[in-house]
Amino acid sequence: MAGIDNEQAFDVLILGSGAAGLTLALRLAQDGYSVAVFSKAALAEGSTLYAQGGISAVLDAGDSVDSHVQDTLAAGAGLCDEAAVRFTVEHGREAIEWLISRGVPFTPAEDDTGYAYHLTREGGHSHRRIIHAADATGRAVETTLESLARHTRGISLFEHHMAVDLITERHLGHPAPGRVLGAYVLDIKADSVRRFAASTVALATGGANLAYLYSSNPHSASGDGIAMAWRAGCRVANMEFMQFHPTCLFHPQARSFLISEAVRGEGGQLKLPNGRRFMPDYHALAELAPRDVVARAIDAEMKRHGLEHVLLDVTHLDPDFVRSHFPAIHARCAELGLDMTRQPLPVVPAAHYTCGGVMTDLAGHTDLTGLYAIGETAFTGLHGANRMASNSLLECVVFAKAAADDIRRQGHPPPPQSRLPEWDESRVTDSDEEVVVAHNWEELRRFMWDYVGIVRTTKRLERALRRIELLEMEIHEYYGSFRVTPDLIELRNLVKVAELIVRCAFERRESRGLHYVLDYPGLQDTARNTILEPARLGDSLPLSAQG
Ligand code: FAD
Ligand code: SIN
Repeated sequence: MAGIDNEQAFDVLILGSGAAGLTLALRLAQDGYSVAVFSKAALAEGSTLYAQGGISAVLDAGDSVDSHVQDTLAAGAGLCDEAAVRFTVEHGREAIEWLISRGVPFTPAEDDTGYAYHLTREGGHSHRRIIHAADATGRAVETTLESLARHTRGISLFEHHMAVDLITERHLGHPAPGRVLGAYVLDIKADSVRRFAASTVALATGGANLAYLYSSNPHSASGDGIAMAWRAGCRVANMEFMQFHPTCLFHPQARSFLISEAVRGEGGQLKLPNGRRFMPDYHALAELAPRDVVARAIDAEMKRHGLEHVLLDVTHLDPDFVRSHFPAIHARCAELGLDMTRQPLPVVPAAHYTCGGVMTDLAGHTDLTGLYAIGETAFTGLHGANRMASNSLLECVVFAKAAADDIRRQGHPPPPQSRLPEWDESRVTDSDEEVVVAHNWEELRRFMWDYVGIVRTTKRLERALRRIELLEMEIHEYYGSFRVTPDLIELRNLVKVAELIVRCAFERRESRGLHYVLDYPGLQDTARNTILEPARLGDSLPLSAQG
């Protein structure tokens, strides 16, 4: 690591410290790379920490790669890239073995007749293939990787550091972005923007689910990586496929608390307040139908009966089984005064997962030389029009390794030779109108929920786009006048990803997977990805600083 002024140089910058970012960091550090990992909050904070159900992989002797591939393709509603699916599934066992070798405490099998660890079921999977750590798999993965990263030579951790924008050759006056050179990063505690230089940068910033008012995701999911890559000139694809998880707890004190799909996998049933089970009316797999089907069915039943929520019932299961398989969910519900072994839980759908993202190949390369994208921020082609449960953590670990292998193949490229332009704050002042940012956040997330939710219409999409354009103008003006704050950076990114979601939704004139639009209820004959290009949309490429 070299320090020049406030510029620091590393072999690789990794923006994000979830399953994807930390896997990449650990893999590269073992090969002698100097790696800087950035997290805009505490290191462990991010969606990974909250993942519940588990990680899918072909582990049991009775299961097969072909079966996992076929289930993923079916859930993806004809839009998965089969090569990406096969690549991910074929590397699944290796990914799980790596996590086990790093010390992740997965739940052991209940007897010794089959695979050594317990495997649960979730929607769309035709076999038990979800390895898990009770109902807090993400916590087990994240805290294990965090503790390794904290003690691994070669990894420098920058917590509470929020990347603002990528630095490319365009910042040095070249006409095209060319290659990535580093990133501008806000040191949140010191309240200053610093330059970090590297010839290789990986985006591992997670999803964009906070574009919606109700989401299962933590605060980090504001689509920063997608917006940064877009501004740097990368293509973004399939943003219309925002996944709504069917069962978030409906409770005023815990609106984003997820009730894992594994609860349905182990026999939980969805019911109306009168006790009637409704999922068998919608799909042969009933509660274990793919997520888009279950979320839409709940939405339809809520609208039909004027309900605020439906019920998830496990009272017919053995209470000891429920307590031992779902200890975290049981405990959280109990804190809120709900005993799930005796009463059905009120649940509603909420924005959960971003199937689209920054376009990559199977090594994680984006359109910008030296820039990789991995994890939820990337679009690899794996998920198609609807991600199958527990395929996301798998994708994080598999593609982080693929990116590490690719970086290793390229040796140790020298850091950028030119000094990066400093962050220029000469034309901005401190904001005296923070309320504008808070107001715009709320407004954006509310109309995205109302107009670009589970069921869409062209008219509502048009309404959303008009509001987005107004907000973008306002935020652009604000960004050019005031010093950056974390809220402003996130709002600027969120409004950009909201625009990308709506533009993708406009381009898809059919209802496929998670994208359901009343004006086009049928399927087109050919399944195509929705690919947006910044240059084609006339979006401005990055400035060397604010203004
Ligand atoms: P994340 O884990 O979200 O990490 C993102 C990182 O990026 C964070 O460190 C954040 O601080 C950082 N970051 C973001 N923006 C910036 C910035 N501008 N500058 C610096 N740092 C930044 N998937 C499964 O496969 N199985 C499950 O059981 C499962 N359960 C889930 C349950 C819940 C409640 C949720 C929310 C998701 C669940 N998912 C599950 C999805 C899965 O957890 C995520 O897709 C996955 O963890 C994403 O990992 P990631 O490494 O890409 O990003
Ligand atoms: C869950 O536990 O229901 C979440 C699984 C996932 O999102 O993959």
